[in-house]
Amino acid sequence: MGLSDDFLWGGATAANQAEGGVLAGGRGLSNVDLLPTGPDRAKVAAGELEMLEWQEYSFYPAQTAIDMYHHYMEDIALFAEMGFNVYRMSLSWSRIFPNGNDEAPNEEGLLFYEKIFKELRKHQIEPLVTIAHFDVPLHLIKEFGGWKNRRLIDFYVAYAETVFQRYRGLVKYWLTINEINILLHQPFVGGGIVFKEGDNRQEIKYQAAHHQLVASALATQKAHEIDPTNQVGCMLAGGSHYPYTCRPEDYQEAINRDREGYFFIDVQARGKYPNYALKKFEREDLTIKITPEDETILAASPVDFVSFSYYCSRTVSAHPEDYAQATGNLFPSIKNEHLPSTEWGWQIDPLGLRNSLNQLYDRYQKPLFIVENGLGAIDTPDENGFVADDYRIDYLKKHIQAFKDAVTIDGVELLGYTTWGCIDLVAASTGQMSKRYGFIYVDRDDQGNGTLKRTKKKSFEWYKKVIASNGEVL
Ligand code: BG6
Repeated sequence: MGLSDDFLWGGATAANQAEGGVLAGGRGLSNVDLLPTGPDRAKVAAGELEMLEWQEYSFYPAQTAIDMYHHYMEDIALFAEMGFNVYRMSLSWSRIFPNGNDEAPNEEGLLFYEKIFKELRKHQIEPLVTIAHFDVPLHLIKEFGGWKNRRLIDFYVAYAETVFQRYRGLVKYWLTINEINILLHQPFVGGGIVFKEGDNRQEIKYQAAHHQLVASALATQKAHEIDPTNQVGCMLAGGSHYPYTCRPEDYQEAINRDREGYFFIDVQARGKYPNYALKKFEREDLTIKITPEDETILAASPVDFVSFSYYCSRTVSAHPEDYAQATGNLFPSIKNEHLPSTEWGWQIDPLGLRNSLNQLYDRYQKPLFIVENGLGAIDTPDENGFVADDYRIDYLKKHIQAFKDAVTIDGVELLGYTTWGCIDLVAASTGQMSKRYGFIYVDRDDQGNGTLKRTKKKSFEWYKKVIASNGEVL
């Protein structure tokens, strides 16, 4: 009673947090290149501060990141050494279409990823490719206002079609949009949206969400037309909400907050808007333009599998005064006294992963894929540069046990597991390098200093054994 022999084990990264080379090979700029470090980052990410040019006084970690642009051969060799049979990565939209809507794609950009996929295949590693991971070309933001504009659907679908054609036979597993529900929390990161005074923010966000949902369905349809063996997934920023107390209104709040995320997956996996969302639009007087053709598109192309990230659970209450004990997270959450926290206040909850898997499987009956999970922690190398990251091993061990239980005891269908930031990279929320997730240490600090040298941590050998034993030896 273990995991199936074809279970996919590996790690995950995203272009903007790893590649660097933001102006190399004809690449254009995108939203994520413009996220500074420091206090402005959260405001820019939330669409509350317009910063569509690099400011001299700010530092932009994505510019170089860990320079995977030049190190990918070395990095893939290390992933292969750990025994990965899957590697999740994302394409940079503006590396392929520098303006997002160019007449023809940038050959140098296409070639860059082709070489990566061939290198992965050489090592028998299956690529799992996110088409847009917090990635909107800057030109589409300046010219069209990002995803709030319906025209983004066509631009995205043209981009998706280009990559499905070009990488046919090289890539089989695709994710359309990373953590699609982040759009509601960080509209600039999730959708390239900058708010103006007087904007109806809820309406803009849900209209942008609709455009992404239609674009995702059209891309799914194209992927299947171009190669019927393609498998396309949606991607949710997961982690359930617990009621702070057993007061019924707290439980109701938890249901409602779960639905903020499920809303997207309900549409992508079931092909239609859930009633609770339509009622919400009505109740809050949000006018969302959804055409009958859009409804047909959504119904025609549900995703093949449901993927999600899982770092922590969240705790919510219907009573604002309970939030005095809030904990750090993108989603508002009260501190859960039953759980330990990471140094960034994310609450560590392995059983929450098993519960999330069960909830998602009950709801969709589609294969699941955990495409992000891991511990962001401060690593301190010893005098030889070695990091003994037992805390990371402990976190991952417990989460792997939890998903094994979901599979072997509860019967959940799980395709694979890719840990987040298998090699240290730039943190999305803070822009820090010091918030590290990797099995491989990268010598670079929060100010961009360092040699970029790669060094295996203790967890490297540990994960290698986990994979070799198909999760039996933890
Ligand atoms: C997810 C994102 O939100 O969480 C990743 O898909 C991100 O891009 C990850 O890096 C962890 O968050 P952070 O802020 O610790 O990097």
